[in-house]
Amino acid sequence: MDSKTIRSTFIKFFEEKNHTIVPSAPLIIKNDPTLMFTNSGMNQFKDFFLGNKVAPYKRVADTQKCLRVSGKHNDLEEVGIDTYHHTMFEMLGNWSFGNYFKKEAISWAWELLTEVYKLPKDRLYVSVFGGDSSENLAFDQEAYDLWKEIISEDRIIHGSKKDNFWEMGDTGPCGPCSEIHVDLRTQEEVDRVPGKDLVNNDHPHVIEIWNLVFMQFNRLVSGKLENLPAQHVDTGMGFERLCMAIQDVKSNYDTDIFQPMIQYVASLAGARYGENNETDIAIRVIVDHIRAIGFTIADGQLPSNNKAGYVIRRILRRAVRYGYTYLNLKEPFLYKLLPLLARQFGDVFPEIKQQQEFVARVVHEEENSFLRTLDQGLKRIENMLQDAGLVAEGENSNESKARNPLFKGSQVFDLFDTYGFPKDLTLLIFKEKGVLQFLDPDWEKEFNEKLDAQKKRSRQDSNIATGDWVILREDEDLDFVGYETLEAQANIIKYREVEEKNKRHYQVILNTTPFFGESGGQVGDKGFLLVGEEKIPVINTKKENDMIVHLTTMLPSDVDMTLTGVVDKQKRQLTESNHSATHLLHAALRQVLGTHVQQKGSLVSESVLRFDFSHFAKMTAEEIRRVEHIVNQKIRENILLDEQQNVPLQEAKALGAMALFGEKYGEFVRVITFDQNYSVELCGGTHVKSTGIIGFFKIISESSVAAGVRRIEAVTADVAEHYVYQNLDALDNLKELLKQPADLKSAVETLVDERNKLQKEVEQLHLKAAGEMKNQLLASADDMNGVTVIISRLAVPSADILKKICFDIRQQTASFFLVLAAEVDSKPQIAVMASDDLVQNKGIDA
Ligand code: SER
Repeated sequence: MDSKTIRSTFIKFFEEKNHTIVPSAPLIIKNDPTLMFTNSGMNQFKDFFLGNKVAPYKRVADTQKCLRVSGKHNDLEEVGIDTYHHTMFEMLGNWSFGNYFKKEAISWAWELLTEVYKLPKDRLYVSVFGGDSSENLAFDQEAYDLWKEIISEDRIIHGSKKDNFWEMGDTGPCGPCSEIHVDLRTQEEVDRVPGKDLVNNDHPHVIEIWNLVFMQFNRLVSGKLENLPAQHVDTGMGFERLCMAIQDVKSNYDTDIFQPMIQYVASLAGARYGENNETDIAIRVIVDHIRAIGFTIADGQLPSNNKAGYVIRRILRRAVRYGYTYLNLKEPFLYKLLPLLARQFGDVFPEIKQQQEFVARVVHEEENSFLRTLDQGLKRIENMLQDAGLVAEGENSNESKARNPLFKGSQVFDLFDTYGFPKDLTLLIFKEKGVLQFLDPDWEKEFNEKLDAQKKRSRQDSNIATGDWVILREDEDLDFVGYETLEAQANIIKYREVEEKNKRHYQVILNTTPFFGESGGQVGDKGFLLVGEEKIPVINTKKENDMIVHLTTMLPSDVDMTLTGVVDKQKRQLTESNHSATHLLHAALRQVLGTHVQQKGSLVSESVLRFDFSHFAKMTAEEIRRVEHIVNQKIRENILLDEQQNVPLQEAKALGAMALFGEKYGEFVRVITFDQNYSVELCGGTHVKSTGIIGFFKIISESSVAAGVRRIEAVTADVAEHYVYQNLDALDNLKELLKQPADLKSAVETLVDERNKLQKEVEQLHLKAAGEMKNQLLASADDMNGVTVIISRLAVPSADILKKICFDIRQQTASFFLVLAAEVDSKPQIAVMASDDLVQNKGIDA
């Protein structure tokens, strides 16, 4: 079976068992502070497990793009070195939300693997949770008994908490699990060592393929386990490993998922896969990493210097470095892999195909800039070697010339910190240069200390400590009423303390709230909670999963009392103006520049709107004008807001509504339309009731943020009015200075012309004076043993003139030494010069 058939067979199998098939969620997680990337198929269902939301379907299956490169699940360092870990991988999964449980999950998994995929039964092992006394968790007898019905007991392994209790992160849903392992070794090897002894022992051919998790608990911040409101099933099968097992090969990379890309990379490098361990690792790193890089960028995450963007940048650099060092790929090459990636995955994950060109440009630019850094870093190493008195080649000559031969761990760290040189790259370069023996034997210890200290610092910078929720009311539906009103009565249903940068605040959840939580680029509302006589400031509002979290500086003295939430109206209205203007801008950009324009990010606040979009050239002044003109025209048309809630996603897309790549849309969406022939967007933000309210729109800057991404900043309403006044005031001041000329432009032109003319005249005069000074100096010079000696203090207008006098003297005089001093703009300037004959014959040094 080829990989495409393996994938579709899984989907079909569960479809026939009444599962709804859903699309993969994006790789980038928004609105969940506990997680940066989707690391498992269940992430998008977290709220269903926790009981925060009701699942629209009881049974679901899909293939999910996952990334395990940060946090609790991190495989990055293994990738490429071994043959069965990946950065990005696909996880096939089936789920039950409070519907079926262990019995069905186990028997269907067995049926699919052995009867449909026809994996040999005598090569499968299963594990069940063996219990854990420190957590008071019992042995999973139920799973054991179910497995006993289908597989002999000597193939059932009792697993530890580490292997058989699955947790999403440090907090969140978790439960005991049952894993299925497959033994892919030869019969000879199997006869020698039983597979059972190799399960969970990092053997590349005895590996876990499927994990059936029985979700029962929620791990709290305090570390305690709390029962979930219902029991669920969460299964995850590694697609690449499954393909290895079914295609009966010894490495994930030998499946048809990776082989085409491997052959392509090998051909770029003029190498052959399978001939040399070092180049093989490099090729695996590259074909693995390009998937992580390509799919995250397609999901809207650009490489950058912090958080998720930095993780992507590091993965990209790891790939470039392996290519550079082991495959001699010294020019950008990763971007060339995009067409193949898009062709291979375009039908399962269309976002990669639709944005192929954009992603390739971003990757290309990143590669270019890292290769430049790599170059600078190599030069830096050369300098280090020179400073230490080491020449670059030949070990013997090095020993004799070494002045200060010990390189410290701190230097290796500096290379890492400044140039992004991982320590193994530095070692490799040292080795190539034959200077490895000059490295301090304790360098690694020092390196690690510095690294730890840095990590600790950055943790402290970003650290937000949160307490556990204090729950006041259970099972309340959360209601957002902020589209309709800015004031609402509510009760606190839960709250918790948060400490950020030594400041204590509270996160408060209300059963009904008019406060808009920061999302989709729109900033969160501010305002206050009125509780009896108390007025509690709400300093920000955010979204966490689907919860609206109000950040307050204190708690009411009576947390159970009914309160009134009041939104800051002025801030909200200005923000709405900017949000609606962003939609008008988006549509205008597509009209003027073309439909390749896709939103790549936005920020909408009360003072400004910022819109990032894909476009490959700087906008001309004329294009900017046209865009402004269209937007202002739409404002003047005073188009009424058409807001539709709960539109089925497919229907909204059929209406032509613009959706964002990397955004997770629910089954039902909100559609914001300003003239159905002009702007239709999926959007959860707040908007003006009609475009006239925006008043006026003005772009204040257009710039580049990354390869292929431009940024427009613009203002609306009063802010735009002020902006125009500021510019007009500057113009008025200018006119006043120029005595109100009839034609300002020609007045300034005349001024500039005059200035240029005068400057030329002054320069002539200075040159003439310099010539005279030179003659005087020569006339009054001393002669000492045949050498003309000139020592004098001059009054010159510039250092350049001083220099000119020196060189003119040199032109005219054979053997001379001079020292000239001058004060130019309150700064001392000294020129010292000796003629060539004195330098060469007498060893005079200026
Ligand atoms: N959540 C489990 C895992 O990631 C099963 O899907 O292994």
